[in-house]
Amino acid sequence: MDDPRIVIDAAQAAQGAILYHSTCYACHGSELKSSGSIAPDLRESRLALSWTRFARSCTRDCSPPWMPKYDDLTEEDLRALYMYVRQQAREAARDHSVPHSITPEKRQSP
Ligand code: HEC
Repeated sequence: MDDPRIVIDAAQAAQGAILYHSTCYACHGSELKSSGSIAPDLRESRLALSWTRFARSCTRDCSPPWMPKYDDLTEEDLRALYMYVRQQAREAARDHSVPHSITPEKRQSP
C-alpha cells in the first residue's frame, strides 16, 4: 500500500533498513516479506502509511509480548524505520505484489 504524496528520503530509508534488520525482521520478515509469523506484512499495513500511527504502534499502541514496546528508539530511529517501510511498500506497489495506492486520484484512473 502506497501513498504517492509521501516523499521518501533515501538516506533515512537506508538507515532504517539497518535498524529494521537488527530489530524488526524476525517477526515482520526479511525485506518486509511476511515471514509467516503472526506479525503483519508492513507493506500492506494501512496503519503504517501514517507517520504518527506508525510511530505510536512501535512505542505506545503495541501489544506486548506479540509486538514488543520500543521506548528506546529515538524519533530519528523511528523516522528512519518509517522511511524504509514506505520505500519498500512503494516498490512492492509498483510490482503489483501488494495492494495499490489508496489515493482518490488513483481510484479515478482507468
Ligand atoms: C516479537 C515480534 C515482533 C517484533 C520484533 C516487531 N513486531 Fe511489529 N508487530 C508484531 C505483531 C504480532 C503485530 C500485530 C499485533 C500488534 O499490532 O501489536 C505487530 C504490528 C506492528 C505494526 C502495526 C501494523 C498494523 O497494520 O497493525 C507496526 C507499524 C509494527 N509492528 C512495526 C514494527 C517495527 C518498526 C518493529 C521494529 C522496531 C517491529 N514492529 C518489531 C510483532 C513484532
